[in-house]
Amino acid sequence: MLPTVSHGDGVWLYDTDGRAYLDGCSGAVNTNLGHGVREVTSRMREQMDAVCFAYRTQFTSQPLTELSRRLTELAPGSLGHVQYTNSGSEGIETALRLATLYHAEAYRPFKCTVLTEEPSYHGMTAGALAASGHPVRRRGLVPLLANQATVAKVRPRHGELRADVEQWERAIEEIRPHNLAAVVIEPVGGASSGAAVSDPAVLRRLRELADRHGFLLVADEVMSGLGRTGAWFGCDHAGVVPDIMVLGKGIAAGYAPLSAVLVRDEVAAAFDRPLSSVLFGHTMAGAPLAAAAGLATVEYLIAHDIPARVQRSGRHLRILLEHLAARHPVVRDVRGLGLQLALGLHADPARTPGVSLDLVTAARDQGLLLYPAGIDARTESVMVAPPLNSTEAELEELVLRLDRSLSSLVPDPAPQVRDLAATR
Ligand SMILES: Cc1ncc(COP(=O)(O)O)c(C=O)c1O
Repeated sequence: MLPTVSHGDGVWLYDTDGRAYLDGCSGAVNTNLGHGVREVTSRMREQMDAVCFAYRTQFTSQPLTELSRRLTELAPGSLGHVQYTNSGSEGIETALRLATLYHAEAYRPFKCTVLTEEPSYHGMTAGALAASGHPVRRRGLVPLLANQATVAKVRPRHGELRADVEQWERAIEEIRPHNLAAVVIEPVGGASSGAAVSDPAVLRRLRELADRHGFLLVADEVMSGLGRTGAWFGCDHAGVVPDIMVLGKGIAAGYAPLSAVLVRDEVAAAFDRPLSSVLFGHTMAGAPLAAAAGLATVEYLIAHDIPARVQRSGRHLRILLEHLAARHPVVRDVRGLGLQLALGLHADPARTPGVSLDLVTAARDQGLLLYPAGIDARTESVMVAPPLNSTEAELEELVLRLDRSLSSLVPDPAPQVRDLAATR
């Protein structure tokens, strides 16, 4: 039975029985500012009193225009066009549609294969799920997904979590580059790999190959975008500008449904009409209320220089998690970037997901929320991804509760490991 939520305050959520839960995973790695942030809620209240909805083909709104200006200023390179959607899945769907239409527009209809990675997660709508390397979430849906997209998958080498440069090159050669419409990649993984980081050399090589062969590079920054990894965007760590960047989750930080697809000027220029009339869209997309929430969130991120803050707090949290890893044999590794972190777990291959769900349950008993991730024993993990404005004391409280959760999950660490940890 799930608890009934009563209210939230900063990194804390409370249920109707008065129990407090420290949010160690920002909901689904989306409530990036925590709960009840006045700068956001008051802006939303003002907008609600003014107008909640105006249809995107009839009006734009001041918060939407301003949000687009902010996003295109923050984004690298010439990602100068923004198309709004309501969820990460819809954003990915839109990116897939755009890649297909882009090649059709230039009389290259044969360029229709999309290459993605397994593990990866791009969303639950049919196209996004077809593009996802997440067998657990695809289970039973193959008949629905088969015709949704022509998708190929690149897989990491045995024992690795992400594909390396050679694996990507080989996959592209096998498909034949002239068939390739787009490559979709998560700079840092989420639900599928548990914060496994793509080698920056992979992103750089994909950029080169995209330029050479004319396919589009799509960065799925739904989770990693807008400060989560200690940079404005996950791609920034590699110095790479994608052709399409999809933002979601943290863009309105859980205050309203909103996502955005940023498109390079060169791609938009391939059409003889505005992108909005190429792509069509969704009824609620970019409505004034969601736009106000998004604008207030992004302005908060800018005003508090959140990427720099996440670099510092991410380093601090990582060190604390490494100490935990040394104390608890069930922890295989600590991975991720910034505050998009995860504990890789030693899983039982006969029962996956298993240990991650046990840990999430044990943590909830300790008043701590964690997000389970992984598609198999190799990737099984829990994400540790607190709000980006968490204080040091809050991060330490998180680790204390996580330590207790791990202890309640397995017998105490071997005495010699414990003694060793105590000497640090
Ligand atoms: C990288 C990534 N892409 C896409 C999605 C789908 O987003 P949504 O759940 O908002 O549809 C998610 C959600 O977890 C995600 O992590």
